[in-house]
Amino acid sequence: MVQSNFMVNTAFVCGRAPLNTRIVGGANATPGTWPWQASIQTSNTSLHLCGGSLINVEFVLTAAHCFTISNDPSGLVVFLGRQSQRGSNPNEVSRTVTQVIVHPDFNRGIMNDNDIALVKLSTPVTFTNFIVPACLATPASSFHSGIDSWITGWGDIGTELPLPLPQILQEVRIPVMGNRECKCLISMRAITDNMICAGFRAGGKDACQGDSGGPLVSKQFGRWVQSGIVSFGEGCATPDSAGVYTRVSRCTYNHNPSSYHHNPSTYHDNFSTQHHNKHKPSTYDHYFSTYNHKPST
Ligand code: ARG
Repeated sequence: MVQSNFMVNTAFVCGRAPLNTRIVGGANATPGTWPWQASIQTSNTSLHLCGGSLINVEFVLTAAHCFTISNDPSGLVVFLGRQSQRGSNPNEVSRTVTQVIVHPDFNRGIMNDNDIALVKLSTPVTFTNFIVPACLATPASSFHSGIDSWITGWGDIGTELPLPLPQILQEVRIPVMGNRECKCLISMRAITDNMICAGFRAGGKDACQGDSGGPLVSKQFGRWVQSGIVSFGEGCATPDSAGVYTRVSRCTYNHNPSSYHHNPSTYHDNFSTQHHNKHKPSTYDHYFSTYNHKPST
């Protein structure tokens, strides 16, 4: 079965960024450092709509709220291997979009709960040093407060301050903040178990408008594992606040990649959470690459 073969390959290659050799904070990213980073754009106006992350050869993970106005896939284009929004991108490929799958329980109201969506590319991409899928956190993952994480994107560099030309992909290092602390700090919306927070109490480093849908990643056991999706915040980089991310581990099933070989029928609904793990047939099956790493203690 072709699909299960690429899943095995994805689980094998995900989260390795051969060109990610340095760790510095809040700066232009070097090409190839974050090879899963995607830019989702409107094709007619070339407007960067949202960030995203490649998770296998033909799916990009992003935020559901990116499609609040429309989830019509026509008119969307996804760029991978992109470094600059206004310069040359020798390692780039682009794909049109055939499907936008918004989480069935996405709360479109004030809550932003289950802010997760999948974008299906028109044709599969070939992995290169500059185009590699991220590993996804599973229910067995844990991201304790203080765990070193990175966010990346082309979003604003401050409230209403667009990224200056040539708009090089930005990277910022921030720690995970525990949900209890985050709940105390964020008053405007409920922080649910489907969310994970990150940022410094002092503020100053955060995602901002335009970074939505982009990945929050941590390096675990030599691989980059995506723990969150940029979702919302109170302003940007505000002291005594935090960035709020969709908790990826609540939306993946903790399966063993080797079981793909033997028993494809044991695939589970990849959008199910620990609470309701009922199997919903077809649509959400097969989509996620999961890297079955041990929980850190
Ligand atoms: N909702 C914003 C977007 O659509 C992302 C906001 C993230 N804000 C933050 N302070 N972390 O781009």
